[in-house]
Amino acid sequence: MRYTNDGGQNPRLKVLDQLLVPHEKVYIDVPDVKMAYTVIKTMQIRGAPLIAIVALLGLSVDMNTNAHSIEELDKIDGDATAILLWIRDKMEYLKSSRPTAVNLANALQELDKAMEEAIKNMSGSSSSTTTTTKEVLCKVVLDYSEFMLERDVNDNKAIGKFGAEAILKKTGKDKISLVTICNTGSLATAGYGTALGVARSLQKMEKLESISALETRPYNQGSRLTAFEILEEGMPGGQLICDSAAGALMQTKKVDACVVGADRVCANGDTANKIGTYNLSIIAAFHKIPFYVAAPITSLDITLESGKSIPIEERSSEELISSSKAPAGMPCWNPAFDVTPDCNISGIITEKGVIYPDADGKFNVKAFV
Ligand code: MRU
Repeated sequence: MRYTNDGGQNPRLKVLDQLLVPHEKVYIDVPDVKMAYTVIKTMQIRGAPLIAIVALLGLSVDMNTNAHSIEELDKIDGDATAILLWIRDKMEYLKSSRPTAVNLANALQELDKAMEEAIKNMSGSSSSTTTTTKEVLCKVVLDYSEFMLERDVNDNKAIGKFGAEAILKKTGKDKISLVTICNTGSLATAGYGTALGVARSLQKMEKLESISALETRPYNQGSRLTAFEILEEGMPGGQLICDSAAGALMQTKKVDACVVGADRVCANGDTANKIGTYNLSIIAAFHKIPFYVAAPITSLDITLESGKSIPIEERSSEELISSSKAPAGMPCWNPAFDVTPDCNISGIITEKGVIYPDADGKFNVKAFV
């Protein structure tokens, strides 16, 4: 992603088309909310934290630089309710792009609070300022989206550190061999990554022996994106395996821990992540290999008691057919995510520390937020 803001209120956003990585590096201009929605929906950008960041930066670019939006906002300037409605309409549209990852919904809720607060402060202010409602809210959206960008990298570094320490302690090993699924690295976040950030931290500590990346059918986030990051970073023992080789790997080679990302973690610890994560957790449980979820607090959804209520995105048959060389017209079931039950999870690594199950094996995620 390339984000610039010369002059303070002139944000510009370009995103790397992840459908073309690693073979081509093409950047797409995101000048408005419509394009932000499109790159998310088509998975040209993906990964729970990045979806939220691109949506919010896209909204900010739209409000601050898109002539059509500026004209619309100018017409209703001074009417705080009308401007709020205008922004909320765009927010709902962005939220409808992909339903499973909760980071975007959480971010929009935070932004909404910040906007309400700014409007309250404006009406309570006695100063004879010439700043209009539109200007104030454009600035709130811009500041909040830039804050998210910065916070995400810092959170990921903390996740990496907590995760590396937890895995070293749990396994008692000097060198760690990891398995991961999907892409949870720099490409899925503002930088550093969550689960792949844990591998990065182990590598920095010279404690990473190997990392096996699952191919992650049908989109191949593992073989295209994680493999690319592993090679770029020169991670020791980096290798790609097809999804169905995970059992054989654990049966025949050294695997110390699995570490995966999350799109939504419920109050009881149930976690939605890329399709195939549930399978991986079952194989890890069978082999008594610790299984960690690495996710920022923005991926937690304590309003849902369990994974049963998580909306699971289903993608088109066409997307599965084109990536699998199946005959055209073949009916498919193509869920993008699955839910790993709390009982298969050893710990949830966040930027505030690791959430562990209690003595009865139950997670209390609410107590952590
Ligand atoms: O469909 P995707 O590629 O958006 O799915 C991504 C994942 O499942 C990731 O593991 C998750 O979003 C965490 S990314 C830090």
